[in-house]
Amino acid sequence: MNILVTGGTGMVGSAFKKIKTDHRLILVGSKDYDLRLQSHAEKMIIDHQPDAIIHLAARVGGVKGNTDYVADFFHENILINTNVLNSAQVNKIPRVVSLLSTCIYPDKANYPLTPDQIHLGPPHKSNFGYAYAKRMLDVQSRAIRQQHGLNYTTVVPNNLYGLNDNFDLENGHVIPAMIRKIWEGKNRRRPVALWGDGSPLREFTYASDISKILFLLATSKDDLSKTINIGNTGEHSIRSIAEKICNYFHYSPLDIQWDTSQPAGQFRKPSCNKEFVKMHPDFKYISLDEGLRQTCDWFSGNYPNIRL
Ligand SMILES: NC(=O)c1ccc[n+]([C@@H]2O[C@H](COP(=O)([O-])OP(=O)(O)OC[C@H]3O[C@@H](n4cnc5c(N)ncnc54)[C@H](OP(=O)(O)O)[C@@H]3O)[C@@H](O)[C@H]2O)c1
Repeated sequence: MNILVTGGTGMVGSAFKKIKTDHRLILVGSKDYDLRLQSHAEKMIIDHQPDAIIHLAARVGGVKGNTDYVADFFHENILINTNVLNSAQVNKIPRVVSLLSTCIYPDKANYPLTPDQIHLGPPHKSNFGYAYAKRMLDVQSRAIRQQHGLNYTTVVPNNLYGLNDNFDLENGHVIPAMIRKIWEGKNRRRPVALWGDGSPLREFTYASDISKILFLLATSKDDLSKTINIGNTGEHSIRSIAEKICNYFHYSPLDIQWDTSQPAGQFRKPSCNKEFVKMHPDFKYISLDEGLRQTCDWFSGNYPNIRL
């Protein structure tokens, strides 16, 4: 099979390079095709004639980027998603698996988060542009499945981290931001300020687990007519993760200043991955300790030649 991965140069996409397979994996980034343009999306499909597409390309960011550029996040993601799905459908590509995110769930949802709740209320106001664009990716996939009988589906990971992440403090996510702050605090011998009080609980999945799961789903005969959650479950407090990172870099957690004047976010947002576990009971997620170890290792080995 030819499997085309959009967003192939990003954190999740680049993790596909480690998958050993006889299938042909084609990883493309924005320098190959600017998917905001229909003509580029069309050319990408004609150039590679994929049997399946794993669609990851997106404008991705942290809370600040999502809020400051809310219109851009909506517009660019709507264009990217609709161009990819429409070109795939017109060219009769039989299978497309696209990635959503738990941050698109309604702000007020029942826990654990289950995919039947995705469209049942407004998303958190900080990222509504990104969230509605991702929700439309789900709508368009279902519409194509219904009208054209093609196997287009969406799956939902939770918070991700890993190699090749974005370590920009304004635009990155919580784990890469903490890794960078603590590493720089240690090397510049200065205290580290982290937002909130560290008490919120979150679930995290190592990016290479997500690439393995997407590969499994794209190449399997699984019934993907319904959206499923695919993230690793099990909650960890932000404070406990900061302590693990401190431990790795030999930095005293006592030197962390928790800035309680800054927002801490929702207390918890657990998700339910039972459907995925039922489909692939043998799949083993990498533990948070091991994933963090590999990520901290990669960060300190590649600093500063990474996304900062
Ligand atoms: N990171 C998380 O915590 C998280 C959580 C849940 C879901 N997700 C989802 O996971 C997917 C991958 O995220 P990631 O963390 O790997 O993001 P990332 O590292 O920022 O990678 C984004 C990818 O999208 C590509 N891209 C962006 N704009 C594009 C455009 N106009 N045309 C073509 N390609 C474009 C980038 O290409 P270039 O690098 O070549 O510009 C890059 O390959 C996204 O769909 C995201 O919504 C991420």
